[in-house]
Amino acid sequence: MTYDFRIEAVDKPTMYRDLASALEGLVAGEPDAIANMANASALIYETLPDVNWVGFYRNIGDQLVLGPFQGRPACIRMTFDEGVCGAAAKTRQVQRVEDVHSFPGHIACDSASNSEIVVPLIRDGEVIGVLDIDSPKHARFDAEDEAGVVKLGAILSRVL
Ligand code: SME
Repeated sequence: MTYDFRIEAVDKPTMYRDLASALEGLVAGEPDAIANMANASALIYETLPDVNWVGFYRNIGDQLVLGPFQGRPACIRMTFDEGVCGAAAKTRQVQRVEDVHSFPGHIACDSASNSEIVVPLIRDGEVIGVLDIDSPKHARFDAEDEAGVVKLGAILSRVL
């Protein structure tokens, strides 16, 4: 069995629709959260252009603890008062940051990162974690990316 999800879409909404459908297929029927986070981070990292880190922080005892990811080794724990990830968990709102260097409290794990989007993952009213995607490009993520990544987050919230 091969897992060759090559997604070459003409426009961003179509690309995210194909990515969401590939993600659904990849996690379908698998109850193990680590396996699903590992494959999800690899799929997103391989599919989105200009990203240097894709991964998860899980809410464990009100701290965000590093989960499966693709990219450079990263900061292991954050509180809800730290970083862009903390802001996403605390406010339960997507954080789309055009320039991470001007975000108060941003935690720089990879100095190459310049913009980022973080989606809170909420299940049964609880923040179970966040999906964090970083880019070396300034303002890499626009409103279409946000809509697409929110859909990925909705799929993931159900299967983590
Ligand atoms: N930039 C993040 C920290 C995690 S790493 O980028 C992987 C933040 O400030 O939330």
